[in-house]
Amino acid sequence: MAKKAVTSEILNIVPIDLSYLNDRGITEDCLAGKTAVVTGGASNVGLGYARALAWCGANVVVADLNEKAGVETQRVINEENGRDCCLFVKTNVTKQEDIDNLAAQAFAKFGKVDILLNNAMNMRLNGPMLSSPVEDLVSSFEISGKGVMMACKAFVPGMIERGYGVVTYSATQFHYLPGMAGGTIYTAGKAAATSLVMSLANEVKGKGVNCFCLTPAGIGRIDFSKMPPMPEPKPGDPPRPKFDPKMMKRMMSMPGFDGMIPPEAGGAGMVYSILNADKLNGSGFLISDAFRAMDFPYPVPETAPKGNSLGHRLSDMEMTMVFCTKGPAFDGPEKTPSFGAPPAAPAAGGPF
Ligand SMILES: NC(=O)c1ccc[n+]([C@@H]2O[C@H](COP(=O)([O-])OP(=O)(O)OC[C@H]3O[C@@H](n4cnc5c(N)ncnc54)[C@H](O)[C@@H]3O)[C@@H](O)[C@H]2O)c1
Repeated sequence: MAKKAVTSEILNIVPIDLSYLNDRGITEDCLAGKTAVVTGGASNVGLGYARALAWCGANVVVADLNEKAGVETQRVINEENGRDCCLFVKTNVTKQEDIDNLAAQAFAKFGKVDILLNNAMNMRLNGPMLSSPVEDLVSSFEISGKGVMMACKAFVPGMIERGYGVVTYSATQFHYLPGMAGGTIYTAGKAAATSLVMSLANEVKGKGVNCFCLTPAGIGRIDFSKMPPMPEPKPGDPPRPKFDPKMMKRMMSMPGFDGMIPPEAGGAGMVYSILNADKLNGSGFLISDAFRAMDFPYPVPETAPKGNSLGHRLSDMEMTMVFCTKGPAFDGPEKTPSFGAPPAAPAAGGPF
């Protein structure tokens, strides 16, 4: 079916065109017959993933709290692809009944789920520990820990039965944030989910299900005005710190940071990673490295190494360490000369 450029007044999107990736294994039918669930799929990163997967032939179930954006996502994806390939299910990933409903609707419409992209997060849960209500940490763990576990329990058993599956998590490159950025509550939640998905890779080893973390690392268009509200602090909790929009700017200006990548391109990185899931099982991958491996002209073509290799693949240890090695003393570009290259692979046997 011919693809169509679709615009939206609600979603912040541009037309998708992955045709020039055909020689990297990304074709318009490379995911035909597969069904994917994308949590948080009605905005930015998840929306980019959902659109790219559908573009490549998959059916996609978008599970998101945001109903207006979710309904629009369903319309856009169906129109873009000229087929009834997208289902939006209003879902709060922290609620078991919502996950049950998501699974029931996904199975009723598409029969099975092969790919689970755990991507939902409330990006506002991003304060420092000492000045945030404990409730924020609970909410962060509820989305990232409990939400990811419930989704895996709903979909992975079917994948094992059929001998094929891919489970990913939209991780972060920070497992604790440098002082300049704050975000203890956010990174603690992200670390919990990363641990779950990496450990699941071991649980399902040899069963045809591959699990890895794909770290978006600067996929924009982030829109803070559309994020879900923060949980109510309890009486006596300290006042919640105000979100500092300059923080994002400072992070974006760090050396080695490749610049914001359009979500449509991020989706291409996800499709590429899914196609290479067996090589990524139990590890993490930065999206910019997915681009380099694809020789994709984002974000800085002149610096991309030639060839189609997974040479920048990060082990779980490296992924945790890659930015954290900078330590709490890291406080911005002026104090850190270089940020870009992942550390060398640990020696055989490794530190553990
Ligand atoms: N954008 C980046 O550069 C970047 C970098 C590193 C990691 N990530 C991770 O990628 C993911 C997506 O990031 P983004 O920039 O697209 O964020 P976003 O805020 O634009 O999108 C998150 C989506 O999750 C949904 N959501 C929030 N809470 C939910 C819940 N309880 N149940 C269901 N849906 C819920 C929101 O409605 C929204 O649509 C997040 O997990 C984030 O931590 C993003």
